[in-house]
Amino acid sequence: MAVEDKIKWDKKYSENIDLLEAREPSKAVVNNYKECSGNRALDLASGAGRNSLFLEDNGFEVDAVDISKFALDILQGRSKYNKINPILADLDEFDLGEERYDFIVKCNFLDRELIERAKKALKIGGVMVVETYVEDEENEKKNSNPNFLLKKDELLEIFKNGFEILEYKTFWNESFEKYRMKKASIVVKRLA
Ligand SMILES: C[S@@+](CC[C@H](N)C(=O)[O-])C[C@H]1O[C@@H](n2cnc3c(N)ncnc32)[C@H](O)[C@@H]1O
Repeated sequence: MAVEDKIKWDKKYSENIDLLEAREPSKAVVNNYKECSGNRALDLASGAGRNSLFLEDNGFEVDAVDISKFALDILQGRSKYNKINPILADLDEFDLGEERYDFIVKCNFLDRELIERAKKALKIGGVMVVETYVEDEENEKKNSNPNFLLKKDELLEIFKNGFEILEYKTFWNESFEKYRMKKASIVVKRLA
């Protein structure tokens, strides 16, 4: 396990308990979860599970993977139907499988290699939402690691082959976040 990530995130959550407050799910998830036909979902780097909990409420069985036990314990406590499987794992190593999921969500966490593995883990006809921060000179947080920021229109490039693009948006982030940051979200359907 990436011990540094685990220590960093458990510390961050324990010192900033507001990050674990119940929050609204991604609009891209809310507006597009009905685009797939099955009910098996994967929430990558779920945190306290704003998207997992929404998907569970809407009939999905969800594998919620995160490196922070702190966050997964909160998620489990909020689960109403026992349909969320919290998985404490390092996504650098976790095996996502192949053609396993009908819906995959990856929000506010950028790992380009993981996106490639997630593409394979999606069933043909399955839907994936990727939403995270983008480089922008008006971003309030100036010290973000550039590796964790998307380039302009990078998501369109990542999904240009083998996927139908159902939706692509850039927007300023939700008001509950600490810093005002530009984000992009893409919703795609796997074709082959
Ligand atoms: C900004 S939070 C995003 C939470 C959630 N996806 C959301 O949109 O609200 C990033 C999450 O990534 C998790 N994380 C960081 N590195 C990880 C790794 N290597 N493997 C699994 N999870 C990781 C952290 O524990 C944290 O919960």
